[in-house]
Amino acid sequence: MRIDIMTLFPDMCEAVMGESILGRARKKGALEVHCHQIRDYTDNKQKQVDDYPYGGGLGMVMYAQPIDACFRAVCEQTGERPHLVYLTPQGQVLTQQRAKELAGLPNLCLLCGHYEGVDERVVEALVDEQISIGDYVLTGGELPALVLADCIARLTPGVLSEEACFTEESHFSGLLEYPQYTRPAVWEGREVPAELLSGHHANIDRWRREQSLLRTRRQRPDMLERAEREGRLSEKDREFLKLNPLD
Ligand code: ADE
Repeated sequence: MRIDIMTLFPDMCEAVMGESILGRARKKGALEVHCHQIRDYTDNKQKQVDDYPYGGGLGMVMYAQPIDACFRAVCEQTGERPHLVYLTPQGQVLTQQRAKELAGLPNLCLLCGHYEGVDERVVEALVDEQISIGDYVLTGGELPALVLADCIARLTPGVLSEEACFTEESHFSGLLEYPQYTRPAVWEGREVPAELLSGHHANIDRWRREQSLLRTRRQRPDMLERAEREGRLSEKDREFLKLNPLD
């Protein structure tokens, strides 16, 4: 998959997208990322990218012209028009389900706004979708774009070493993940649950499923209700929850 990021802070995006799992995925060609400086596309000598809002008010609004020119350049480089996502607190809140759908696209372009956002005509003319990463406000769209890019990239084949890494995790199955332990078997007097040391795979799987159920009910009852409504709980799951009421 190819992800293009249009931003006033390409170094910030490069730094994050060049490290760790994503950096390795890019090196081996499982992921292509390009960060573009919107300022390079301004048609004024001062390289100004924003201005006061019409009608008055605090903050600055990003010009439509350089964003449009930058996106045209991205389209040309990509060879087709990527799906354009604008990161904004006004967007739909990101879910794992939406990330999965976006991960199926060959090309994605992310627009990071700054200050008071971008001229509304950019949204009307170019943007395909607006996404928020949560009901809080950040100083710009870079961190949200990086959150979205990370979330999508790890669902792209070849980015994680084993597909199992994401199929079992929280939100993918709609339940929270079971607790994980590693060596030593006893740390500061705290023991690893005996079921995990038993070597009995069926028992380990059942224990993990039960821990997922308990944890989801305790920490995200909304997710457990949804799993129940959508028929993702077995008779055995329901029986277990009934026998282990919340205290
Ligand atoms: N820009 C500023 N805050 C944001 C948020 N919560 N989500 C997406 N973009 C943003």
